[in-house]
Amino acid sequence: MSTAAFLKTFMHFRMELKCSSSETAKISSITSSRHRGHENGGGFDYRKGVKSLLESAPHLQKLPSEFVLKLDQNPMDAAAGSDIPTIDLSGLDGSAEQKAATIKAIGDACVEWGFFRVKDHGIDEKVILEMFEVIEEFFGLNLEEKMKYYSEDVLSPVRYGTSLNTPLAHKLHWRDYLRHYGHPFPDSIFKLWPENPPHYRDVAKAYLVEIWKLTMKLGGAISQSLGLEEDYFERSLGEGVQILACNYYPPCPEPDKTLGLAAHSDHGGITILMENGVEGLQIKHDGAWVSVHDVPYTFVVNVGDYLEILSNGRYKSIEHRATVNQLKTRISVAVGHGPEMSTIVKPAAPLVNETDGQFRSVTYKDYVKLQQSITSRGKNALEKLKI
Ligand code: OGA
Ligand code: NI
Repeated sequence: MSTAAFLKTFMHFRMELKCSSSETAKISSITSSRHRGHENGGGFDYRKGVKSLLESAPHLQKLPSEFVLKLDQNPMDAAAGSDIPTIDLSGLDGSAEQKAATIKAIGDACVEWGFFRVKDHGIDEKVILEMFEVIEEFFGLNLEEKMKYYSEDVLSPVRYGTSLNTPLAHKLHWRDYLRHYGHPFPDSIFKLWPENPPHYRDVAKAYLVEIWKLTMKLGGAISQSLGLEEDYFERSLGEGVQILACNYYPPCPEPDKTLGLAAHSDHGGITILMENGVEGLQIKHDGAWVSVHDVPYTFVVNVGDYLEILSNGRYKSIEHRATVNQLKTRISVAVGHGPEMSTIVKPAAPLVNETDGQFRSVTYKDYVKLQQSITSRGKNALEKLKI
């Protein structure tokens, strides 16, 4: 990138960060009117989401131009053949040798792939099934009910929306979503979770409690793989922030021309993902897009930006994206885990020697706001912190 282009992008980020609420309102109204496109379907308001668009045009055969992305290659042509490593987590509860071998396998996967799949994770299939059922029910509610949770504030504790997370103008992506905070489940936020379907809160909480426990177990292994004390990752989180993203990708008439979710890295430390049996996740590996296969009841785990920073760059957060398909609705549940919002994120002291501190310090809250607001995704937010 030229210096001028870099400066322009950087100033753009800073403007987004500094956005006062009135500026945000101004920008969102521009976004909204832009997305209330008249070219396809006579004034459909794209804020209502992709599911609603399809309901108003059930025989849609051409992708509305708002969704057509500039892509280097057909996203359906990802490299086949290789797959992320699978780790049997029961090894962490086994003999000392099994535990050491499992920790090493996790460390190797973090270095070589930044992504791995876990089996024998100990989470009951019933908890997973009920979670997917309740999410399907949520997206099946009428639009008015879902729009109660619509928000353009990227830090809002509960958000229903569509396309990317930012309200800033961008080419649309073929995704609707529900996002909200989980652990430590403060009452002030829990009472804002969707009240419909009626069992949503209990089911989602049960799922998130299990995912938090799994993440702390993985965090223990990851800490040890870095030569840190077992509870280093967990302690670094303070109370911690857990963010649930339920992604709903309806069938798409022209899946070769768009994406469900643009290439990005996750802002948290560890993300735990499960899908409804429909593939779509791709990750950047050795410069090429690789499809992650669906293996029922296994979780896909990935390194996020917070862990890249904490590990002082030894483990890299990996760009990933979601493709869509013509036939099936894909649902994925991604749960991110980061430190409490006021934490200054920085590399773990034992991993820094005097010459190699790689990242500028920033509060996690400012980082999340930056990362969630940008329309040019990839790893652009993390790049800004590099010294
Ligand atoms: C995410 C994400 C991928 C997917 O929600 O951060 O990367 O497969 N989702 O839906
Ligand atoms: Ni992600």
